Amino acid sequence: MEPYERLLLMNKGWVHDMLDNDPSFFNRLADIQKPDFLWIGCSDSRVSADAITGTSPGEIFVHRNIANMVVHTDLNLLSVLEFAVEHLKVKHIIVCGHYGCGGIKAAMTKSNYGILNKWLRNIKDVYRYHRTALDSITDQEQRTDKLVEFNVQEQVMNLAKTSIVQSAWKKHQWPHLHGWVYGLKDGLLKSLMHIPPNTTIDDLYEYEDLH
Ligand code: CO
Repeated sequence: MEPYERLLLMNKGWVHDMLDNDPSFFNRLADIQKPDFLWIGCSDSRVSADAITGTSPGEIFVHRNIANMVVHTDLNLLSVLEFAVEHLKVKHIIVCGHYGCGGIKAAMTKSNYGILNKWLRNIKDVYRYHRTALDSITDQEQRTDKLVEFNVQEQVMNLAKTSIVQSAWKKHQWPHLHGWVYGLKDGLLKSLMHIPPNTTIDDLYEYEDLH
C-alpha cells in the first residue's frame, strides 16, 4: 500500500467509529457549523488544533500558517478572521504558538530562504522589539522559546489592532483574544495571555469610525 492510501483507508475506519458512537454525527454537521473558537496556529504537523484540544470536527474554525502569524496585509488571514467574527460569531480567538518552532528558529538565522524571507521578516521584527531581553539569553533553545512566547503575544496584539476585532468589541462582548503555547515535549498547552473585549490598546491603533 502507498503511504497516501493509508489515509483513505483510515478515513473509512474513522467514519465507522464516528457512526458507531453517534449515528447522526454527519447529518447534524452537514447542515451547519457553529464553532465557538477560531484557532490561529502554526502549520507544523505536530500541532493539530483538534487533536491537542480533544475537540471534534465542528468545534474549531482553523487558520494555520508558518509560525502562527497575524500579518495585517495577509488577505487569507483577514478573510478567515472576518468570516469567523462576523458570520460564525466566534467568542474566542486563540493564537497558538509552540516551543521549538522551525519558523521562529529560521527567523533567528541569517539563512536566505527565498520567498519565505518576507514571511520571516515579521518574526525578525518581533525579535528587534525584544532584542535586549532575547540577546541576554545565552542558551539557544531557551532564546528560541522566549521568542516563541514574545511572538504569540505580538500576534494577539495584532488581532486587537484590526478594525474587525475592534468593531466586534464595540457591538458585542466578544471575541476574547488568547495567546497560548504548546509544548512539543510534553503535549501541554500553556496560556500566556488573555485579552477580554474592549481592553484598552495603544491609541495609535484605535479606530473611532467603526461600523
Ligand atoms: Co512552528
